[in-house]
Amino acid sequence: MRVFVAGGTGVLGRRLVPRLVDRGHQVTATTTSAAKLDSVERSGAEPIVMDGLDAVSVGEAVAAARPDVIVHQMTGISMAHAGKPDLKHFDRCSVPTVRLRTEGTDHLLAAAEATGVTHFVAQGYANWNGNREGGWVKTAEVPLDLHEGTAAHPAMAALRHVEDAVGGAGGAVMRYGAFYGPGATDDQLGQGFKEGLA
Ligand SMILES: NC(=O)c1ccc[n+]([C@@H]2O[C@H](COP(=O)([O-])OP(=O)(O)OC[C@H]3O[C@@H](n4cnc5c(N)ncnc54)[C@H](OP(=O)(O)O)[C@@H]3O)[C@@H](O)[C@H]2O)c1
Repeated sequence: MRVFVAGGTGVLGRRLVPRLVDRGHQVTATTTSAAKLDSVERSGAEPIVMDGLDAVSVGEAVAAARPDVIVHQMTGISMAHAGKPDLKHFDRCSVPTVRLRTEGTDHLLAAAEATGVTHFVAQGYANWNGNREGGWVKTAEVPLDLHEGTAAHPAMAALRHVEDAVGGAGGAVMRYGAFYGPGATDDQLGQGFKEGLA
């Protein structure tokens, strides 16, 4: 298949792209940074610079790639995109990711429709935001906790938007948990996150 990975250079994208390539898929992977084009190319994908918050940029990138499937792995969690983490003010430091999960999702879905892309897979998140009602085992139909009235609400509402918009368009949202290990937790263990918690 022709696979378009929006956010091909993040923790998830860096692992996903080579695996797709190994399985014989033709992959286009995006970054916002021209400096990363070479490393994306080395992973076996066709690299492209795209701003997920710019509808024109997204539309052009998807139209050029003509994919069968779009995979949405765009987040703005890193210090490069969100600045120094401020976990006591989660609503502030989550703004780039909230925008990518609302506006970015909508731009990708619009581009999918315009280009005739039939499959869409997006990154979701279900960890500390689980629904507290009922039993321990949940299905994907059980809505996640929106944490209304807290600083986490905008981020949770954005996740709800991903699930509603992508699900409504016939796509799939993978509810990820927390990932750990080399390349997945380095920033959190580093000085930025420690200071953000202090
Ligand atoms: N432990 C966990 O469960 C877990 C899970 C995920 C992330 N993290 C942590 O979170 C931090 C950041 O992770 P990450 O590198 O995956 O996230 P990230 O730096 O936020 O990047 C995710 C992807 O989204 C892309 N992106 C960002 N802004 C974009 C925009 N405006 N338009 C289009 N694409 C955009 C990035 O591209 P470019 O940066 O190349 O432009 C990258 O490919 C790391 O510290 C990581 O360890 C932890």
